[in-house]
Amino acid sequence: MTNWSEIDTYAKAWVKEAGVNIRNSFSKTLTIMTKSSANDLVTDIDQGTEQFFIKKIKEKYPDHRILGEEGFGDQLNNLDGIVWIIDPIDGTMNFVHQQRNFAISIGIYENGEGKIGLIYDVVHDELYHAIKGHGVFMNELELPPLKETEVSKAVIGLNATWVTENKRIDPSLLAPLVKNARGTRSYGSAAIEMAYIASGRVDAYITLRLAPWDFAAGVILIEELGGIATTLKGEPLNLLENNSVFVSKPGLHQEIMKEYLKDGNW
Ligand code: IPD
Ligand code: CA
Ligand code: CA
Ligand code: CA
Repeated sequence: MTNWSEIDTYAKAWVKEAGVNIRNSFSKTLTIMTKSSANDLVTDIDQGTEQFFIKKIKEKYPDHRILGEEGFGDQLNNLDGIVWIIDPIDGTMNFVHQQRNFAISIGIYENGEGKIGLIYDVVHDELYHAIKGHGVFMNELELPPLKETEVSKAVIGLNATWVTENKRIDPSLLAPLVKNARGTRSYGSAAIEMAYIASGRVDAYITLRLAPWDFAAGVILIEELGGIATTLKGEPLNLLENNSVFVSKPGLHQEIMKEYLKDGNW
């Protein structure tokens, strides 16, 4: 039998230790590199943090596999066994430009089923964490189940990219949602947007393209609280490829699917 409580204890300790290392990096000079484009940033701290987790996990749990954004983990073509899906810094642009509004995100899965979710907002020292079936906590505070809401009362996490010309969605499709919602917000870290749904600060989050490490932890937190996580077509998320992602409180998910997304052809 897998001892999830032990894994959770180690994972939380490693996340906190990585957070201290990241905070200490603020007084040092960052090495900033680009990946797919001039705006796709990565730093030595992103890379070092991922390597830190891999070393810890491999020492303690040599049979666990790791999927990490920066590529220091394993090459996965299935989700068999226990898999850690790690984004060492989600919101690297915020990390570089603001030194805030970024998070460590770790989802731990067994045969594709979410077991432990951890999102650590390093600067605010807010650790959102869940073991499946045992509730969601923000630090020591247990978060209540998500209540139903509706578009007219909802604050929706949505990046302006998706209502301006882009290559994934007709910008006029989401414009009515922006107009009818109480408000929209864009935090620049998918993990933080999802942690904010868990804590009730935001009601839904919509984006056209995320990698598995961006949402692996967040969906565990949100589903544990009765929220809904799908693609924009309403289909299950695939942890082995990029997805559109629509996560929401209940009720609101159905309303947005039916009234705003059903005619989309992405
Ligand atoms: C990014 C952030 C951002 C989202 C991007 C992601 P990264 O992750 O989550 O909010 O819009 O799609 O790539 O690269 O900072 O880990
Ligand atoms: Ca990145
Ligand atoms: Ca990310
Ligand atoms: Ca990242």
